Amino acid sequence: MVNKAVHDELLKKFQAHFGREPEVIAYAPGRIEVLGNHTDYNEGFVFSAAINVGTFFAAAKRDDTTCRLVAGDLMKEVTFDCTGIMPSSEDIWQNYVKGTFAGLTEARPATHGFDGMFFGNVPLGSGLSSSAALEMSTGLALARLYGIEADTVTLARIGQKAEHLYAGCKCGLLDQITSLAGEAGRLVKTDFRSVTYETVPMGEEACFLMCNTHAKHALVDGAYNRLRESCEQAAAHFARVLRHPVQALRDVSMTEWAIYRAGLPTEVADRAAHPIGENERVLRGAELLANGDTAGFGALMFDSHESSRVLFGNSCEELDAVVDAAKKIPGVLGARLSGGGFGGSVVVLVHPRDAETAAAALANTYAARFGSPCDVSVITPAAGARSWHLGVRS
Ligand code: GLA
Repeated sequence: MVNKAVHDELLKKFQAHFGREPEVIAYAPGRIEVLGNHTDYNEGFVFSAAINVGTFFAAAKRDDTTCRLVAGDLMKEVTFDCTGIMPSSEDIWQNYVKGTFAGLTEARPATHGFDGMFFGNVPLGSGLSSSAALEMSTGLALARLYGIEADTVTLARIGQKAEHLYAGCKCGLLDQITSLAGEAGRLVKTDFRSVTYETVPMGEEACFLMCNTHAKHALVDGAYNRLRESCEQAAAHFARVLRHPVQALRDVSMTEWAIYRAGLPTEVADRAAHPIGENERVLRGAELLANGDTAGFGALMFDSHESSRVLFGNSCEELDAVVDAAKKIPGVLGARLSGGGFGGSVVVLVHPRDAETAAAALANTYAARFGSPCDVSVITPAAGARSWHLGVRS
């Protein structure tokens, strides 16, 4: 089992805190975004992978309508009633669980509460989607506990709605889909228009390093939502000036952008160029991977970061420093920011034989510039989320 020590510790903590065993457990991994930045809500394509860190959620039903929820890392408990779930401004981690539970039970309100505890090892605020790991482990565990049928896309949408309504971030579906659909050693390629996905092998010649800068810049969620608004404003413009239907930036090519951007404020036009270019890069990257051209794929990752930095404005000094350092390290094939941006982590594509030396070189170069090293770890594309009854792994 992945992360067995974390699983065993959660069971111990659950038993000690609630004085009984959980009935169900679910595990959901974090994710890396490999290529295709901010393309998901523009109905485009993304390469991503579920990773080898994640969150477990254990639960048992109660006879009354109370829900007792414990964050296993803090051992802090909050309670709420399953008949009136509302977001909270305190202990905001509870909102991901509440929002997911509210979405699951929207059609058929729950009549019983639960004892629940979550515990995991996804570093928080690192751009590895600890929130989606929490939503998807909550969703799978509570769906099993309450006997609710929810397929992958339905569950992902429930998690996304929790982010929108309970956490205030107008995210796309990338993090939730990846956490559910990941497969060991493979990338997930998703089409966010049809919301369909396939997995493709990454090949033996490549592995990933994750460099967590711990940088977190102000107004992160507000900034994400504003970028999304710029993309929507640009899509509405292109829908007016292009002859073919434009539902989202997915429908606009870079050539069309260059010819028809006139009339858009410069900043909005630049913002739009990023997901349009990213979409084209993902499609090109798919061809390169199919031909075994990992180096070509890596070059697209560098291009992606440059587009984030120059056009989309969602990079920062710390992320740029890691990518610049990566470009000079032998064996590194590509590097880019991963996820929303404005801080968090850089994902680096490297030949496995160079991974260790590249990791040390990245940490040292970063330390020389910022005073302390960034956290560098090898990330393995791993299996997606699962739930099971205690003692019966499915
Ligand atoms: C965050 C969001 C995703 C996606 C990425 C950027 O991770 O949650 O939906 O938009 O940023 O690609």
